[in-house]
Amino acid sequence: MSRLYVVTGAASGIGAATCVLLRERGEKVIGVDIHNTDINVDLSTVQGRKEGVEAVIKKSKGKIDAIIACAGLATPSPKTVSVNYFGVKEFVEGLLPTLSGSKNPRVAITSSMASLMPNSPELVNAMLADDEASALTIAQGLCAEGDEKAALIYGSTKRALGRWIRRECIKPKWAGAGIPLNAVGPGIVETPMVADMIATEEARSAIDAMVPMPLNHYLKAVQVAYLLAWLTSKENTHTTGQTIYIDGGSDAALRGDNIWD
Ligand SMILES: NC(=O)c1ccc[n+]([C@@H]2O[C@H](COP(=O)([O-])OP(=O)(O)OC[C@H]3O[C@@H](n4cnc5c(N)ncnc54)[C@H](O)[C@@H]3O)[C@@H](O)[C@H]2O)c1
Repeated sequence: MSRLYVVTGAASGIGAATCVLLRERGEKVIGVDIHNTDINVDLSTVQGRKEGVEAVIKKSKGKIDAIIACAGLATPSPKTVSVNYFGVKEFVEGLLPTLSGSKNPRVAITSSMASLMPNSPELVNAMLADDEASALTIAQGLCAEGDEKAALIYGSTKRALGRWIRRECIKPKWAGAGIPLNAVGPGIVETPMVADMIATEEARSAIDAMVPMPLNHYLKAVQVAYLLAWLTSKENTHTTGQTIYIDGGSDAALRGDNIWD
């Protein structure tokens, strides 16, 4: 029996590769993106998220098996906060009731190894407090302070996602309803998002110093899709609350062995 997946960010990169992989495996997929897929909505806005949820409910007749949230931005801008955190959280929460009819409901989110990078605690806290207006004001303030501060925005969105997942996953509406909720944390993946960052020898040296990937270097999008597919498969019965780094060893290289204190 095939399962019905909803995949955001379906028009490009990791989301697109995930749609292809799932369809090759005989699963059904509803793609969501701002353009070029089954449901075209802007997840940076409250209205777009609402329209997206309603369109999925209509198309799926109210029953899906899994959500894989890949839509994201990496620009040092307030919009990245809206898409990467609120655009994921509100969309996933809006679709939670549609998972209740599935025998094996699952959710996986694309975070990043950047969740381990320096961030703005104030911005992370505003996201976790579910205060989009304050989070956008803080992000605007970081942008006004220059490139170095603005660069904290992306990692902050991914840190907040990882923390939200850990808080949520053990609640009755997730664990109690049999729904594993996890994230993947990729290193550098060869997609349009990072094309400029790895276009030249000089750019690659800079990124490799920041994100060392001693195991097999950069990823192809499908390699992240394999992990997303497993996390949202029937086979994943007990892994929840995790950000699983798929990063060629960058987490181990940067944080070392003593991460349990
Ligand atoms: N590429 C990498 O190196 C890398 C590394 C770690 C994490 N990630 C994460 O993986 C996810 C996918 O990124 P990718 O590399 O495939 O990038 P990508 O740019 O190829 O794809 C991102 C997709 O998100 C969609 N999107 C952006 N804003 C949207 C909006 N407002 N509403 C709806 N859809 C929107 C885009 O249209 C695009 O199709 C992102 O969350 C990104 O942060 C990427």
